[in-house]
This record gives sequence, structure tokens and C-alpha cells, in this order.
Amino acid sequence: MLTIDNTVSFKITDDYLKADEDACILTGVFEEYNLFPATEHINNISQEYIYSLLQRSKFNGSLNQHLLLYDIPYFLNRHILLVGCGKSHKFNSDTYIKILCNSIKFCKSSHFNKILLLLSELNISGYESYWKIRHSISIINDIFYTFNKFKSHKHSPKQDLSLEVILYINNPNELHICKKAIKDGSAIAYGINIAKNLSNMPPNYCTPNYLSHKVLELPNYYTDLNINILDESHLTKIGMNSYLAVGKGSKYSSVMPIIKYKNNPIINHDPIILIGKGVTFDSGGISIKPSNNMDEMKYDMCGAAVVYAIMCIVSKLKLPINIIGILAISENMISNKSLKPGDVISTLSGKTIEVLNTDAEGRLVLCDVLTFAERYHPSIVIDIATLTGACVVALGKHFSGLMTDNHDLAKDLIYASEQTRDYIWRLPLHESFDKQLQSTIADMTNIGDKSGGGAITAACFLKKFTQKYNWAHLDIAGTAWISNEKVKSSTGRPVELLTQFLINSIKQD
Ligand code: BES
Ligand code: MN
Ligand code: ZN
Repeated sequence: MLTIDNTVSFKITDDYLKADEDACILTGVFEEYNLFPATEHINNISQEYIYSLLQRSKFNGSLNQHLLLYDIPYFLNRHILLVGCGKSHKFNSDTYIKILCNSIKFCKSSHFNKILLLLSELNISGYESYWKIRHSISIINDIFYTFNKFKSHKHSPKQDLSLEVILYINNPNELHICKKAIKDGSAIAYGINIAKNLSNMPPNYCTPNYLSHKVLELPNYYTDLNINILDESHLTKIGMNSYLAVGKGSKYSSVMPIIKYKNNPIINHDPIILIGKGVTFDSGGISIKPSNNMDEMKYDMCGAAVVYAIMCIVSKLKLPINIIGILAISENMISNKSLKPGDVISTLSGKTIEVLNTDAEGRLVLCDVLTFAERYHPSIVIDIATLTGACVVALGKHFSGLMTDNHDLAKDLIYASEQTRDYIWRLPLHESFDKQLQSTIADMTNIGDKSGGGAITAACFLKKFTQKYNWAHLDIAGTAWISNEKVKSSTGRPVELLTQFLINSIKQD
């Protein structure tokens, strides 16, 4: 059994009748009283009790109806949650996900702490058991996630209880692959929670100092991670002036933690490098942001949290790869030391930048890290950044933006995103956007003009620093956190997509 954060744990069984008697059984009914095989079985045991009950109730199996049964004849002491699954011929992976989400929310509000999930017993074409389990784990983990570190009154004791989930698989031949799904899924869910916890921290706690301490602690838990934290004096010495320019107005020093993991059987295999934007608070600097929702700019370090979490997962799963995570950490604040609009700065690459807007700070930290990454001769570099509001306008909250010139890399990332449902959408990284970045006095400006495509001009800016390797950029401004009347929380995206991309890369080698 694998546990996530001591709150949700998962195991599998191939005999649901023998599995824990105190677990609430979740099973399905299609429209027209067409029962799932397990529901049919329980109906037989209970001498047609379920049928007779259904005929007397308003429950007819339509999508997302729920009916909680107990005191079932010959099946005493058991709770069964019947879940309406709609028309059987329309049942597919999307309905499976929707039904699962709603039933798990139902279980949460009913305070069940043990669930026996029979919903995955149906065959859905093109949807393997491995993925049913992986998605179940992701969804359950997401629904049960809470962040109450700063609540003086924690939730009622009932809600603090841990949840145990038993997943039923009807084909014993699949036991091995399903155990693998539990292992991968639990490690990923665990990592997602790490990323969420870091990102949800308020910006007076989650400062550049805090994040570098968090990195320092890593080898205590993950002994195969090697860390090296470059401080301001080191970054100054090597010439990362653009990186340092962003943090000039902050009382905290900028830092650049490097986390290395080396486990490729080919010892000197070129590493994959992940770079995460870690601006712990983005006030905009002198080009200050409007105050509406400015609090959400604590999430401007979500890219770094994602990279941090992926390094933990990779170590936990002992993936046979070489990978380096680099966190680009600073705080974008206002003071008499701040970077100003009009300033010209020099980068590690030697290129110069005219800063026309201090709020376009993400690209200023990232460009130097992209140059720095060259020294590792990487096979692939991917940066993950809450980079532009324009990306949210273009793609909304469900798709992260993907920008790359490399079609193979794009194909692999999109494939992993479809597998995990952690979706991305490719935007054109076309040279026609380059002219927006022309400066009259330096090699480039740090913002485009008013002709639009802001997510792309940001990527075109970054591209100038990535000529020596295969590179992709993920703009997660729309997907890294959710914010509505009910919730404001980090999503941990795209931890799952990128971990899957890494897992897939092993199979290809
Ligand atoms: N961190 C922001 C991007 C952002 C804004 C993410 C809103 C999520 C929601 C980034 O540093 C930024 O301020 N970008 C500017 C760029 C502009 C000045 C060219 C933006 O998008 O407005
Ligand atoms: Mn900004
Ligand atoms: Zn920012």
C-alpha cells in the first residue's frame, strides 16, 4: 500500500467480496437499470433487492445520480453507493472521469474514509487498466487535497481522517501492471501535493530564502539528489546580470538552486534539464501591477515548485535517467534599488536587453538560466513558467501553452499531455514575431509592441538564448492555479505531464 501525505492511500484487490468489509462500495448502474457486473452480482446475493429498490426509487441510472444503500439483505454491514453512468453505449473515458469526480466528491462530503472502487471494471476501448488507475489516483488526490497550514481552527476531526482507497481489478493477469499504476500514480500524486504546498504558501513565508532552504533539505529525504545553490556573489561573478536585475529591489537575495539526479545506465548520457520560474512575488516592479488580484502573484513561483516536485518524484521512482532541475528564484519588488524602465542590462550570453517594462521579469531571469544550461550539454531543455497573461487570454485555464521549434519534442510532450489529461496546446513560434522585440539602443527589448501575441513574443525572446540544444517552453500562467469564489489553490500542473514525458523517454531509449 502506498500513502500520499498520510492522507490518501491506495491498494488493489481482485476479490471485492473479500476486501475490507467496512469500505463503502462504489459501483455503477447504466440507464434502463442495466447493472455493472459487480452490481448484478450483489443484486443476486441480496435476492434481487437492488432491482426491487431501483424500481421503487427515482434512481434510473442517468448520469451522475447517486443512491446510497445500506442494510442490504445478505450483505449487511455494507454501504454501497450506486452511481448513475448514463447510456451504456455512450460510456467512454470522458464519462468515466466525470462520474469518478462526482462520486468521489460525494464520498468526501459524506465523510467516508474507506472506499472500494468498482467503477473501473468495465472495458472502455482504448483505455487500459493502467490509465484507469492512474487517473483515479490523480482525481482522488486532487479532491482530497487541503491546505490548512494557516487555519487556527483546523477542520472538524471527521475531515482530518485519512482516506483509504481500494481499487478493484477484474482481470488477475493485470495485477502486475496495476501495481505499477499504483506505484507511479502515488509517487506522482505525492509530488503534485509537494508542488501545491510550496505554491500555496503565502509570499511572506515563501521567500527566496525559504525556497533555497527547502532545496537544502532535499538530500535528507532523497539521498540520490545532489544540490548546489548558487548565491548572488556567484551569479555576479559568472555574469548573470539579467537574472540578478529582477531581484535588485527585493530585500531577499536572488538564488539559483541546481538539483541533480544521475541514474542513466549510460553514465554520461546528456541530461534533460528542467528550468522553473520561481518569482516568489511579482509586484511588477516599477512597472507596478494593478492591485486587483495582485495577491495571486505569489503563484509566480509555480514553475519552480513543479521542477522541485518532479525531482522528488524522479528520485522516489528511481527513474533510469539523468536530469537536472534548475530553479530561477527571485522576488520582483519596488525600491530605490529596483530595475527601472529604460535600463539596459547585459546577459550571460553577451547580448544586451533594453528593459521597457519591469513586469516582463520572467524572461529576464530565464534567459540567463537558458544560457547557463549550455554548460551541461543537455539533450533537452524545458522551461516551465507562469510567463504571460497573454497565454491565459489565448488558451484559458485548461491548456498550458507549448512553444518549441522542435517537432519531435512537441509530439512527445503533446502525447504525454493527452495520456495524463494534463493538457497543452502548441502555439506558433514564428520568426514574424521577432521584429516586435527590436530595440533602438540594445540588442532587443524585453516586451513586444501592441500588435498582440504576447505569449509568443515572450517565447521568441527566450528562443534567442536556446540555439545550442533542443528546447521547449511551457507557459503555465493559465493552468498553474485556480481562482474562483470557492477556491484559490495551486493545481500542481504540469507535474503529471512532465513526469509522464520522462517515463516515456525511458521506453524510447
Ligand atoms: N507573472 C506574470 C504573468 C502572469 C500574469 C501570469 C497574470 C498569470 C496571470 C509576468 O511576469 C508578467 O507580468 N507578464 C506581463 C508581460 C508584459 C509586461 C509584456 C503580462 O503578461 O502582463
Ligand atoms: Mn511580471
Ligand atoms: Zn511574473
